[in-house]
Amino acid sequence: MKDILIIGAGGVGSVVAHKCAMLGDTFGKITLASRTKSKCDAIAESVKSRVGKEIATAAIDADDVAATVALLREVKPFLLINVALPYQDLSLMDACLEAGVHYLDTANYEPPNEAKFEYHWQWAYQEKFANTGLCALLGSGFDPGTTNVFTAYVLKHHFDEIHYLDIVDVNGGDHGKAFATNFNPEINIREVTAPCRHWQKDKFVETPAMSRHQPFTCPEEVGTFEIYRMYHEELESLTKHIPTLRKAQFWMSFSQNYLKHLEVLQNVGMTSITPIEYNGQSIVPLQFLKAVLPDPGDLGKSTQGRTCIGCIVRGVKDGQDKAIYIYNICNHEDCFEEVGSQAISYTTGVPAMIGAKMLVEGHWLKPGVWNMEQNDPDPFMDDLNKHGLPWEIVELPVGETGFED
Ligand SMILES: NC(=O)c1ccc[n+]([C@@H]2O[C@H](COP(=O)([O-])OP(=O)(O)OC[C@H]3O[C@@H](n4cnc5c(N)ncnc54)[C@H](OP(=O)(O)O)[C@@H]3O)[C@@H](O)[C@H]2O)c1
Repeated sequence: MKDILIIGAGGVGSVVAHKCAMLGDTFGKITLASRTKSKCDAIAESVKSRVGKEIATAAIDADDVAATVALLREVKPFLLINVALPYQDLSLMDACLEAGVHYLDTANYEPPNEAKFEYHWQWAYQEKFANTGLCALLGSGFDPGTTNVFTAYVLKHHFDEIHYLDIVDVNGGDHGKAFATNFNPEINIREVTAPCRHWQKDKFVETPAMSRHQPFTCPEEVGTFEIYRMYHEELESLTKHIPTLRKAQFWMSFSQNYLKHLEVLQNVGMTSITPIEYNGQSIVPLQFLKAVLPDPGDLGKSTQGRTCIGCIVRGVKDGQDKAIYIYNICNHEDCFEEVGSQAISYTTGVPAMIGAKMLVEGHWLKPGVWNMEQNDPDPFMDDLNKHGLPWEIVELPVGETGFED
């Protein structure tokens, strides 16, 4: 049993706090710290009433390395779980190195003034973590995270070599709002408005944002949705660690309503990250937009429907072509019932808890900086089934997957 410090009291932080609190044999003292302490206190109250466990709370500016080191020295956790924003990744990794604490996050570093998320900044910490005997586990959410583990699992058990990977993230739920994002609006909008990149042959190919789309029918009657090809960070690590991949693409569903609102907001400059002067004050339009949009952490009570996220993998086994679809379906209302959150926060927070469990139990604990697919997928896959994200695996007829070579 090990003590942990969770940083970030948003939609995902709330799920991580609840799910870790449910595993009293794995996690000892839990401290939740974030910029706004009142949000930590509200989550602590919910954890107490739903799970019956007291968790400690604290205020922290995670951009301040010295303050975070002081908090780590006071709390003395085994592991820091970073579910603040991607901007905080490097300062929190620096703080962990200084205080001798293992590190885990769910999204790769992104500089605040440039919408560009890449792993090279965090991979550059490999030697520092290895030399201090500390472990940093990167991207332990659903996508990235579980999608990486799904890919590693099918490669281990169902293929000799994999060649084509299509990751499909469908949110078939409806929150009933005119426009809202399912996780932090600033990060979400930066992600979906960025140019698309997909892996082809031996390099990333760039195409305009949202320029490629097609219908996708989910299993178990979740429905048929229009999915749009976009760049997502797990493509970078998966194509590095699985060099047999010839093509790797990421697809996400968007409703016409979401796209219409996004187009208008883009056209009028509201998604810009370039600061403007307003009434003698410098403001970033996208940050102002975030302030007026619904808080994703509050969407749970109004969201109905299911998510369906998975990987369609094609390759060879015993000299034969083969196609596999591995996926999870998650019900928004069930998540709300269990922890008071919608399924997007839930499908991120549960894998963050399981990633933490993999380190606490030693399955994945090794010095250095690691992506999810660099570990044995089996214990993580077992825990998905036990802790709220059961998965299914089906063999598809080769040539009828709906995705091109
Ligand atoms: N891998 C995946 O599948 C996946 C999916 C969805 C989201 N994510 C990632 O999960 C993370 C959390 O997402 P979310 O939807 O929970 O976001 P959110 O609701 O906006 O919560 C972010 C939290 O971080 C806190 N924070 C921001 N800057 C901080 C700072 N400098 N110091 C301390 N705390 C700070 C915020 O504090 P305030 O409350 O004061 O603003 C807020 O409590 C993001 O990095 C997101 O990219 C990953």
